[in-house]
Amino acid sequence: MVYPLSQLEERGYDVSKLPYSVRVLVENALRNWDGSTVTDDDLEAVASWRPGRDFAFKPSRVVMQDYTGVPLLVDLAAMRDKVAQMGGDPRSVNPLIQSDLVVDHSVQVDFFGTPQALELNMRREFERNEERYRFLKWSQESFRNLRIVPPGHGIVHQVNLEYLTPVVDVREFKGELTAFPDTLIGTDSHTTMINGAGVLGWGVGGLEAEAVMLGEPYYMPVPEVVGVRLTGEVREGVTPTDVVLFVTERLRKLGVVGKFVEFFGPSLGKLSVQDRATVANMAPEYGSTVGYFPIDEATLAYLRGTARDAWLVEAYARAAGLFYANEPRYSQVVELDLGQVEPSVAGPRNPDERVPLTKAKEVISSLTDSKAGRTVRDGAVAIAAITSCTNTSNPTVVIGAGLLAKRAVELGLKVPPYVKTSLAPGSKAVTEYLRKTGLLSYLEKLGFNVVGYGCTTCIGNAGPLVPEVELDVRESKVDVFAVISGNRNFEGRINPHLRGTFLTSPPLVVAYALAGRMDLDLTSEPLGEAGGKKVYLRDLWPSLEELGKYVAQTMDPELYRQQYADVFEGDANWEALDVRGGLTYDWGESTYVRQPPWLDMEPALDVRGARILLLLGDKVTTDHISPAGPITPDSPAGKYLTSRGVRELNTFGARRGNHEVMWRGGFWNPKLRNFLVEREGGYTRHFPDGEVMSVYDAAVKYASEGVPLVIFAGAQYGSGSSRDWAAKVTRLLGVRAVLAKSFERIHRSNLVAMGVLPVEVQDWRELKLRGDEVVDLDVELKVHGKVRVTLDGSRQFEGRLRVDLPQELEYVKSGNVLRYVLRKLV
Ligand code: F3S
Repeated sequence: MVYPLSQLEERGYDVSKLPYSVRVLVENALRNWDGSTVTDDDLEAVASWRPGRDFAFKPSRVVMQDYTGVPLLVDLAAMRDKVAQMGGDPRSVNPLIQSDLVVDHSVQVDFFGTPQALELNMRREFERNEERYRFLKWSQESFRNLRIVPPGHGIVHQVNLEYLTPVVDVREFKGELTAFPDTLIGTDSHTTMINGAGVLGWGVGGLEAEAVMLGEPYYMPVPEVVGVRLTGEVREGVTPTDVVLFVTERLRKLGVVGKFVEFFGPSLGKLSVQDRATVANMAPEYGSTVGYFPIDEATLAYLRGTARDAWLVEAYARAAGLFYANEPRYSQVVELDLGQVEPSVAGPRNPDERVPLTKAKEVISSLTDSKAGRTVRDGAVAIAAITSCTNTSNPTVVIGAGLLAKRAVELGLKVPPYVKTSLAPGSKAVTEYLRKTGLLSYLEKLGFNVVGYGCTTCIGNAGPLVPEVELDVRESKVDVFAVISGNRNFEGRINPHLRGTFLTSPPLVVAYALAGRMDLDLTSEPLGEAGGKKVYLRDLWPSLEELGKYVAQTMDPELYRQQYADVFEGDANWEALDVRGGLTYDWGESTYVRQPPWLDMEPALDVRGARILLLLGDKVTTDHISPAGPITPDSPAGKYLTSRGVRELNTFGARRGNHEVMWRGGFWNPKLRNFLVEREGGYTRHFPDGEVMSVYDAAVKYASEGVPLVIFAGAQYGSGSSRDWAAKVTRLLGVRAVLAKSFERIHRSNLVAMGVLPVEVQDWRELKLRGDEVVDLDVELKVHGKVRVTLDGSRQFEGRLRVDLPQELEYVKSGNVLRYVLRKLV
C-alpha cells in the first residue's frame, strides 16, 4: 500500500504543521490530481494552505436524506429519459461515486405513548409517501453506485457514523492499492456530524451534490481554520449536549462563518467519538463549514466498539501523518475550558440562545403571563421529545435519560397525560443497547416509547398535540412549550402553536416531562412528589461513575453487527411496493414525482424588456423563496393538487419530487414582504396594469406575454439553507436575473447552477426604484463581468456578475448544470 502524502515531500511541501483537516484536503487533491479537473494549481493551493484561493475538491462519497435526495434522483431519472430519447444508452446515467440515501425525514409522530406507536407511525408513513417510496425503490434497483437505506433504520448522519463511513477509503490508484481518507458531501447541513470520527464532510446544495455525483468537482476556497483548544474536564451533572450548546454560543459570538473549525488540545482525548459527533453535528448552528476532530486513540476505540477495522485506520493515519500527535498551526486559536460548561437549555427561538439551567425559570416565565386553560396553563410542556441525530447518537445522554427514567419509575413518578412524549432514535443500535441495559422499559413506562427511526419532531414532524392541549392553545391562548433534544428551534419549526421550543439534553427532556412544566427551577424546586416526599432533579440524576458503567456496555461490536446486517433491506411495507419501469422510470400520474423540465431549458441570458417580479428587503431566506411546510388549500399549489383529486396535500418538503407543485409554491410564504404590494405573503403586482395576484399567477401571465423577469433584493439574499429548490423555483417562475446587494454563498451557486444570473448591485432603495420600471441588462459574460442595468430605456447604473468561477460560466452557458453534465455523457 502507498501513502500519497509522501509524494508531497518529494515536491518540497511540508504539511506536518498544517491543521489535520487541511491535510485531508491535501490528500484529496493528490488522489484526484489529474491535471484537468484537479490541476497543479489546485494542489498548490491546498498543499501550501493559501486561504481564499479556489480549488477543486472531489470527495469519495455523497450522502443524502429523502427530502433532498428524491428531487436529485428524479433529475437523474429524467436524465436517463433524455439519453434514451437522444439514442444513447440510459444505463450510462449513474452516480459515478458511492452515493447513499437514508430515508429518515418523512416519518411523523401521529401515535405515541404506546408499544404499537412505531408500527402505527410507519404504516401511516407508507400511506402518505407510497409514491415517493416506489420511486426510491426503483432507484435502488436501477442505479449503480447508489445504496438506499429504506425507512425504519435511522437518521442519515447517525447511520453514516455508525456504519456507512469506512473512515479510510482503500482503492486502486495508479495500479496500486492505496489508502485515502474518506471524504464526503451531503445534501443535509448536519452532514458535519461525521467530522467527529476524523472524516471530512459537510452539507451542500442538491444541485452541487448532483454535479459531484456525476463526476464534477466541488469548487471552494481554501479555508481558514480556527483551532479550538480544549482544556479542563466536564463536571458532574454536565452532559455532551451542554458542551455543544456552550460551543455554539461561544463560536457564534466569535464568528466562524465560512471557516473550518478544528478541535485539539489536552482535553481532546476526554471526549468520545460520540461526544465529538454531537459537537460536530451543530457546526451549521455555530456557523462553520466543519467542526473537525482529528483521528486519535478515541477514534480507534469507537471503531472497535462498532465492529469496524480499527487496525487499518490506525496504520494508515499514522503513516500519513493524520493521527493526532502535535498541535498544528491555525489561522486563529480559541481556548475552551470544558470545566466552565454548565447544564443548560437553549431557546426559545435559536440554538445559540443558551440559558443556564439556573436561569431557565426566569427566561421561560418572562415568556408567559399566567393564563390558564382547561387542561394546561401557561408554561406547560406540550411536547417532550428525545429526538435528532445530535443527541440520540450519543449513549451518554441516551443512557442518562434511561437512568433518570429508572429512578423516576422506581420512586413512582409519572408524566402528566397532556405531555406528548416520544423517543425517536437515530438508529436501531440505540434501542438495542437501551434494551440490553434494561433501561428501555423505564423510558416506556414514562411514555417515551419508540415512535420511529427518523427525524420526527426535529424536522417538524411532531404530529398533532394532545387534543385538549391543542384546544387550550387555540381557545385560551395559553403559552406552552416543546422541550426537545434537537439542534434547531426556529420559530414555528416544531409546531406553529407553541410559544417556543427549548433544546436540551435527553435527561433534561425527561425531567421537564415529569414536571409537566418549564417555568420552574429544576436546580432548586421539586419536579414532583412521590410517597408524600418532594422529588428533586438531584434525586434522579445519575453520577458520572454510574453513567460510565452503563455507557461502557453500549460499545458492543456484536450489537452493531447485528443491527446493521440488514440495513439496505426494507420491512414488509417496502417489500410490498411495486416498482414501475425498467431502465427508465414509468412516471405515471404521480403527484409526488414528475419528470422535471430542466434538461429542455435553453440558456436564458437575454434580459431585455424585463419586468420586476418582486422587490425584496434584506435577509430573504430560502424558506421565503421555497417553503418546506404544509401546503394549504388556498395556495396555488393546494388548488392545483385539489383539482387533481388529492385529499392529503402533505408538505412542500414531501413533494419536492414534483416541480408542478414546487413551482406553484415559489415565494408562497406568509412572512414574505414584497415591497410591490401592501400585504405580506406570496403576492405581487403585475405590470403595467398593476393588478395584485399570487407570485405564481403573475409569473404565468408574464410568461404568456413573453416578458422575462428579474427580482431586486437587499443584502444576504438566499440565506438560511442549502435548499436547491429556491433556485429551481426562481428559474421556473421565469426569472432570468436576481439583482441583490449581496448573496449568501450556497444560494448564489445554486442560482448559477440553474442558469439564473446573480448580479450584485447597489440597494434598490438607494436607487429609488418604484418597481414598475422596464429593465434591460447588458451582461459581460465572464467571471465577475460588468452588468449595465438600464431602467425605462434611460436611467443607468452598473452591477457585477456574481459568476465566480470559469466552471460556473459553462453551467450558465449550457442552460444549467444538468445540461452541462448531460453534454459530457452523450
Ligand atoms: Fe434530521 Fe434533525 Fe438530524 S432533521 S438529520 S434529525 S438535524
